[in-house]
Amino acid sequence: MRKRLVAGNWKMNTDMQDGYRLLKDILDGVREDELNACEVHVYAPFTHLKIFSNTLNGSGIGLGAQNCHQESVGAYTGEVSAEMLASVPVQHVLLGHSERRQYFNESNAVIAQKVDQALANGLKVIYCYGETLEERESNKHFEVVETQIREGLGHLSADQWSDITLAYEPVWAIGTGKTASAEQAQEIHAHSRDLISKMTNGDVANATRILYGGSVKPGNAGELFGMADIDGGLIGGAALNADSFKGIITA
Ligand code: PGA
Repeated sequence: MRKRLVAGNWKMNTDMQDGYRLLKDILDGVREDELNACEVHVYAPFTHLKIFSNTLNGSGIGLGAQNCHQESVGAYTGEVSAEMLASVPVQHVLLGHSERRQYFNESNAVIAQKVDQALANGLKVIYCYGETLEERESNKHFEVVETQIREGLGHLSADQWSDITLAYEPVWAIGTGKTASAEQAQEIHAHSRDLISKMTNGDVANATRILYGGSVKPGNAGELFGMADIDGGLIGGAALNADSFKGIITA
């Protein structure tokens, strides 16, 4: 069965000292039986990755970056390649986050190239997708998420899907304190799983984890994670506090 996953997306938060302290608090607080039951990842700023990689080595907590560039190497000042990330080493990368789509104009086509770079360098991917409030209010949410999944991941072989986790994050629920109801999330997750089945096959669809993200907290995590097709969470704000992150892992 699908092992649950709780992933902390730190975004552009914490300097080196605060970040290290937070990581240590998470490391000290998460119990071994919890790590057996639930995978835990931290998606930290680029500057933190090397030290975090050393600190987390052998801990059972996975480490990821929040982005990588779509080209493999070259004159792209300020960018970081998937190969660089793999050499740190980190094991995971978050791609297609709505903040990347919105503020950095990342299209599905560019994200598809990033996915290829990540997989070619042995990284596992969390692929984020989700509709805006306007899209939901005009009843386009199913269509929007289907296009995001097809255009970002439709070119992958069934084998490549073993390195993909989806994260449904309705844009209107990110950092707003508004969570999708467990039923609203479940409805999209079931639809996404059905789509994966059509794009690949039933086995791949059953094995692929689909996380929910958007204002997940210790108080609402249990209900969300109790839904049939919700396999864990991608956590923003609540991942910046060791106690609330641990509370979500316990849930
Ligand atoms: P949030 O962010 O938990 O602060 O809503 C989630 C995310 O952006 O991944």
